[in-house]
Amino acid sequence: MKLNVTPTQHEKKLGANDFIVTKTDISGKITYANRIFMDICGLPESKLLTVPHNIIRHPDMPRGVFRFMWDTLKAGDEFFGFAKNLCADGSFYWVFANITPDYDKNNKLTGYYSVRRQPPQSALAILMPVYKEMLAIEKQASAQEGPKKSINYLVDVVKSTGAKDYNSLVLSLYKPNGL
Ligand SMILES: Cc1cc2nc3c(=O)[nH]c(=O)nc-3n(C[C@H](O)[C@H](O)[C@H](O)COP(=O)(O)O)c2cc1C
Repeated sequence: MKLNVTPTQHEKKLGANDFIVTKTDISGKITYANRIFMDICGLPESKLLTVPHNIIRHPDMPRGVFRFMWDTLKAGDEFFGFAKNLCADGSFYWVFANITPDYDKNNKLTGYYSVRRQPPQSALAILMPVYKEMLAIEKQASAQEGPKKSINYLVDVVKSTGAKDYNSLVLSLYKPNGL
């Protein structure tokens, strides 16, 4: 499901104390959204619940980031990352996201839980050109091969920074309120 809107260059910003919270079922369909999420994306609860989370996917986001995210979650690990999201009026907002698998008392996977905060500009300045290159790699490859190739590029970038792995790099870029 996609928003039928043309993306604009208008940016909305999360406040330093704003937290966006959403929950999904195991297939990524939204089961809970907090007020701040509804306010920033401009959609009421009735347009969000049971809807796939890709409703707010921005076309500037490389597919490889989401492929990597799902691989991480399906391995039972938590994911950290930066994402550009689309609003109902075509504007966009950046977040620093943490997504974790959610389990019931019998340790059965019931879905996923995500909390997003304001990202530091310093992190976006580093990541925006990386995402741009990932997108360019994907556009030159087939839908099947594109995400794999762009993830390889991301892994190379991580290595070139000397970080241990993707999570170490992303967490080192996130400094709370460090604008
Ligand atoms: C808990 C949770 C939160 C998510 N949050 C976002 C989000 O904020 N923005 C987004 O584009 N995708 C988010 N996703 C990923 C989407 O489910 C989807 O994989 C992504 O938008 C790519 O969609 P596509 O494969 O249709 O291109 C989230 C997934 C989960 C499980």
